[in-house]
Amino acid sequence: MIKIIKNFLEENEIKVLNDWSLNNYHKSFFTDPGMDINYPRTRLTTRIHGNLVYKGPENDKEKVEYPQEAFNIQKRIIETLRLKNALFPNQFRHGIVTGIGFEFGSISLHQDPIYLPNTYTVHCNFLTQKPIDGGITIINGKQYDINVGDALIYTVSHLQHEVTQVVGKIPRILWCYGFCVTDEDMKNIFSYQNIVSKNT
Ligand SMILES: [Fe+2]
Repeated sequence: MIKIIKNFLEENEIKVLNDWSLNNYHKSFFTDPGMDINYPRTRLTTRIHGNLVYKGPENDKEKVEYPQEAFNIQKRIIETLRLKNALFPNQFRHGIVTGIGFEFGSISLHQDPIYLPNTYTVHCNFLTQKPIDGGITIINGKQYDINVGDALIYTVSHLQHEVTQVVGKIPRILWCYGFCVTDEDMKNIFSYQNIVSKNT
């Protein structure tokens, strides 16, 4: 199940998110998820790896303080998708992961975990900075070449996905909002048009 909402983000939100990623990716809470064995450290994310779970900001070595805009967007997603239960994956700080992908980096084919029993893991992804070329998401073999600010929402626990190699010196910046979605909420998210614009 895949849904795109065009132009979900405002211009100023895109700028704030990009600035935050560019100003913070060298900090210890950005780590390499190791999803490109040929080009290590071409992608860094704020996701927590392995069996570790997010225990709250007091446990962060360097405190992750996402900008207020990131939370405004999260609230808007929950409202727009009509989520009754907004449960976050336990590897996501505050339900949010941001990643930065540098030249040559790609993300190999995978599915994401189911974090809570009887839920689907759904990501609402935003590209906030697009590389010169590449860095395109492929879901079940089909390319989704979204624009900056569009929401690409899909069931990452059930659909195979990958990202093509980033080409050029402009890094790919992605903001990912994760949800553990119940059956009931799945209907709310995916029951209407697959591609919509924010204002329709
Ligand atoms: Fe994934």
